[in-house]
Amino acid sequence: MYSDDVLLAALMWLLPATTTGGVVRDTLFNPCRTYSLNDQLHLDCSDQGLSELPDGLNYDAQVLDFSNNNFETFPNQLEHFTQAVKLDISGNHLNLPLPGYIANWPNLHTLNLSDNNYDVWVSDGRYNSLEKLDLSKNKINKIHDDAFNGMPKLFFLELSENRIDDLQSTLFSKADNLHNLILSRNSLTSVPPFQSSSLRSLLLSNCQIQNLKVDSLIRMTSLLEVDLSINQIESVPDNFQSHTLQEFDLSYNEISSLTDRTFSSLPNLAVLNLRGNEFKDVWASSYFASNPYLREVHVKGNRWSCEGFSVNLLLTYEFLTREPSKVSDPGSLICYSPANVTQLTWQRAYIETWHPDETSAQTYTFMAVMIGVIIGVIMTSLICRMLVAANKPEPPRPAAPAETTALNLNGTAPQPRVESLIMRVPLREEDLPPTYDEALLMPRLNASFHSLPDFVDEVEETTTRSYRRSRSIGDLTESRPRVSDRRSVRRTVEIRIN
Ligand SMILES: *[C@@H]1O[C@H](CO)[C@@H](O)[C@H](O)[C@H]1NC(C)=O
Ligand SMILES: *[C@@H]1O[C@H](CO)[C@@H](O)[C@H](O)[C@H]1NC(C)=O
Repeated sequence: MYSDDVLLAALMWLLPATTTGGVVRDTLFNPCRTYSLNDQLHLDCSDQGLSELPDGLNYDAQVLDFSNNNFETFPNQLEHFTQAVKLDISGNHLNLPLPGYIANWPNLHTLNLSDNNYDVWVSDGRYNSLEKLDLSKNKINKIHDDAFNGMPKLFFLELSENRIDDLQSTLFSKADNLHNLILSRNSLTSVPPFQSSSLRSLLLSNCQIQNLKVDSLIRMTSLLEVDLSINQIESVPDNFQSHTLQEFDLSYNEISSLTDRTFSSLPNLAVLNLRGNEFKDVWASSYFASNPYLREVHVKGNRWSCEGFSVNLLLTYEFLTREPSKVSDPGSLICYSPANVTQLTWQRAYIETWHPDETSAQTYTFMAVMIGVIIGVIMTSLICRMLVAANKPEPPRPAAPAETTALNLNGTAPQPRVESLIMRVPLREEDLPPTYDEALLMPRLNASFHSLPDFVDEVEETTTRSYRRSRSIGDLTESRPRVSDRRSVRRTVEIRIN
């Protein structure tokens, strides 16, 4: 392998003009590697401390990596790489305008000038194919008015980590395809009110923006995403407007309050990030009344005060957590103060303050069901009682015997009287002996079981009471005549046949 490398390198050294595609490794004599990947010829001269390019490079290379070297000017041979699709010359010390010949490269679509020494950005050529331009990590504080006018296909512009404190609103008005603009880590103090019909994503994180103007976004008519995280915004003006905005990142600012109108002019708002702000008062769900597409809200890192324990705690909690939940972590909706509810969710703080006996909302449901069941049982028993009363037999003849179920159940019952015919008709299938527990709940017997025969005799004498009816809950309170102290009267009807 090693000897192959040497051989190849030697061949290349002798016949530089004949090297074409294919994998050629020539690191022994040349700081640059040439290889093809995905049908593109790559030339990699990165990290070599170069201030000039070596001779003998393949000028057909399409992907050029000259990053992390010591170039202070564009290298002389660069001019010959007319097939370049991508030029990465980041991590050098360039600060001169782009050489004019680059504008003639027909296929160039990515230009990486990140981490160089630019302080002013000028470009007046036409770069008809350029789609991505990376100018991050320079010292740019000034950009010429027409800098992007000659880049009709520019799609992605990275300008983060520069020293930009202001930008003309018309800077991108001719960059008709610009979708992504990254201006994070600059010195901007307000959102530049760009005119752009193409911009989708505007990132302004970590600048020094303090003020938001109501109309800063309205000339960006396709805007979907704005990142204003890590700034010093204290409030969002009422009616802050964008007809298209869907994702709004306001995390790590100094916002302490919202109103019903804060988001009322953002009809397409879907994702809202308000993490790490200075909210104390729990929001009202009416703040989001005009945002029907809102599906994600980030609220962590605010010191919510649940003081007052208003019903808002419950309503907004419900609004944010109702399935599909808008907060990924309902545990972020927790009270910071007052001390007696710290770490409780808004919902729990409310419930425990106003309904300390309830353990959860389910308790209400459970209670409602129980009350329903009890009412149902009472109604049923009333109806049963009425039906039974309607079928009540004629008062029995004086001689009628009065045998009871209980007597049979206890096994101490006397033999039924033979003189009379009594049919006992069970009312229900479960006309069974009471269980021990039931028995405990029943009215006590005054007399012992041994005295039951006497008891029966006594009943025989009381002609008006010797009929029995079924008993139900209603009977417990009724005062009509019945055989007192006899638990055995339940659940049977006697029909006497004369
Ligand atoms: C430009 O180069 C830097 C590092 O050299 C890299 O982080 C960045 O992603 C590159 N930009 C583009 C658009 O490729
Ligand atoms: C917490 O204290 C407040 C008074 O500051 C009181 O109204 C509330 O009921 C208390 N809540 C709980 C859950 O103890």
